[in-house]
Amino acid sequence: MTLSLAHLNRLLAPRPTRFYDRIDSTQEMALEWLREGAEAGAVVIANEQLKGRGRQGRMWYTPPGVALAVSVILKPLVAQLPQVTMLGALAIFDVLQELGAIRVTIKWPNDVRLNGRKVSGVLPEAEWDGGELRGVALGMGVNVRVDFRGTELEQTAISIEPALGRSVDRGELIAMLMKRVDYWSARLGTDELFETWKSRLETLGQQVLVNRITGLAEDVDTYGALLVRDENGVIQRILAGDVEFCG
Ligand code: BTN
Repeated sequence: MTLSLAHLNRLLAPRPTRFYDRIDSTQEMALEWLREGAEAGAVVIANEQLKGRGRQGRMWYTPPGVALAVSVILKPLVAQLPQVTMLGALAIFDVLQELGAIRVTIKWPNDVRLNGRKVSGVLPEAEWDGGELRGVALGMGVNVRVDFRGTELEQTAISIEPALGRSVDRGELIAMLMKRVDYWSARLGTDELFETWKSRLETLGQQVLVNRITGLAEDVDTYGALLVRDENGVIQRILAGDVEFCG
């Protein structure tokens, strides 16, 4: 079914929802809404993004009608900020499992992968008022039926529908996702959230290359940092980066 505000309101009520058929980025709109006073749980959804934001200043590809572009507003405590990214990845992971997908993993820090390829990315952006945290726009992009053939992402990205071999309604998917976001939001700051995220990571126990450091990804800490034992046996603490598997 085509996405529309009326349809989304039926699925998501009473959650404050804004829908755009075409927009630069749901993150931009969510951060603006946050500055205007949006409440926790409010969500911005787009059918297409022209300037979707990815991690590390990259672009995120959201062609019309074939993906989810969702930014949900959360109001965590400052100490809970590291868990916001984990929350997004966990919520998407849960939805994929609920749909019956089998090979679902999280690649540190927050790429959700299906059959070893990236199906979703998560981008949290915080909005501060001086020293005070106003809230976070938690952006989630999910490939539902994006056709990557002939693109540079052909070997690394995947969409849900071809992987499952059936069609999936984007509205239903958003409703499922919001339920899992609410579930994990209620558990922000808990060991349960951290331990569940950690247990889903495919990265641990692997030889990796990250930020020019090669070594064994041994562990993560509660801030979400990756602990890599380098070739000299020294533990390197990585806060952000792209992991390549090299084992
Ligand atoms: C990544 O690079 O892995 C993170 C991608 C996050 C993309 C989503 S799509 C919805 C929201 N709006 C954006 O502009 N980006 C995020």
